[in-house]
Amino acid sequence: MSVNIKKMGSALALTLLSMNMLSVNVSQAATKSAEVAVAAAPAVVEKRTAQQIVTTVCAACHNVDGNSSITLNPKLAGQHPEYIVKQLTNFKEGTRANAIMGGMAAALSSEDMQNLATYFSEQKTTLDVAKTNGHGSIGEKIYRGGIQKTNVPACASCHGATGAGLPKQFPRLSAQHADYNLVQLKAFRTGERANAPMMTAISVKLTDQEMAAVADYMQGLR
Ligand code: HEC
Ligand code: HEC
Repeated sequence: MSVNIKKMGSALALTLLSMNMLSVNVSQAATKSAEVAVAAAPAVVEKRTAQQIVTTVCAACHNVDGNSSITLNPKLAGQHPEYIVKQLTNFKEGTRANAIMGGMAAALSSEDMQNLATYFSEQKTTLDVAKTNGHGSIGEKIYRGGIQKTNVPACASCHGATGAGLPKQFPRLSAQHADYNLVQLKAFRTGERANAPMMTAISVKLTDQEMAAVADYMQGLR
């Protein structure tokens, strides 16, 4: 009996001793199988459709229909597809510096970008109203006529009277969240958003109050 216990005891010791080596082997094996899985992935995993990427990733911040509820996240619904592709490309390159979207865009292929752009451009923008810059406001004056004294051009000259923008060149601004608009105007001014020299040249001429007024006006624009 005592011999048996001794035998069992040394067997246990041996097992414990070899645990370290074993765990090394196990983790090596795990790494190997992970490598195999990665190598095999392209053949196994099907391409994700825009709908799948939207529901699993983008919808958390931009909503499924591209009309985000959080006002710092832009509405993408009805935005021109060329503009969306450009922004995603710029986020990936870093010319439009943004920690969140930089990470998102890094995971997208150019085909994904195209598909996502088509998807969001086909959604209907939900309209909104300005908080205080409605008809006859400073915001409206800047948008429609610019500011002569400081040589600020009319925003409408590029973005259109109704904020519809021009496909391929100028983004749609109609009904975009005021909070988001303001962040962008400031990012153009500081150069954090360095992907639009035209907008940087304009935003350096705007005061904080003028920015806030026109940002609010655009939220109600239609
Ligand atoms: C965690 C939240 C979050 C997720 C998830 C997210 N976004 Fe964004 N997105 C943002 C924010 C915040 C901004 C504004 C960045 C800035 O201030 O420059 C933005 C900006 C954008 C813009 C620029 C829009 C414009 O008007 O210039 C596009 C295009 C965009 N996102 C597409 C996507 C797509 C496509 C996905 C899914 C693959 C996605 N986003 C996922 C938060 C998110
Ligand atoms: C000469 C043409 C031009 C004029 C005038 C102009 N913009 Fe722009 N704006 C652009 C372009 C081009 C872009 C897109 C830049 C890019 O491709 O990233 C842009 C982008 C923007 C954006 C960012 C939109 C988004 O979804 O992120 C805002 C906000 C904006 N403009 C506001 C204004 C305001 C306010 C005025 C008037 C004070 C104005 N713009 C006048 C050309 C113009």
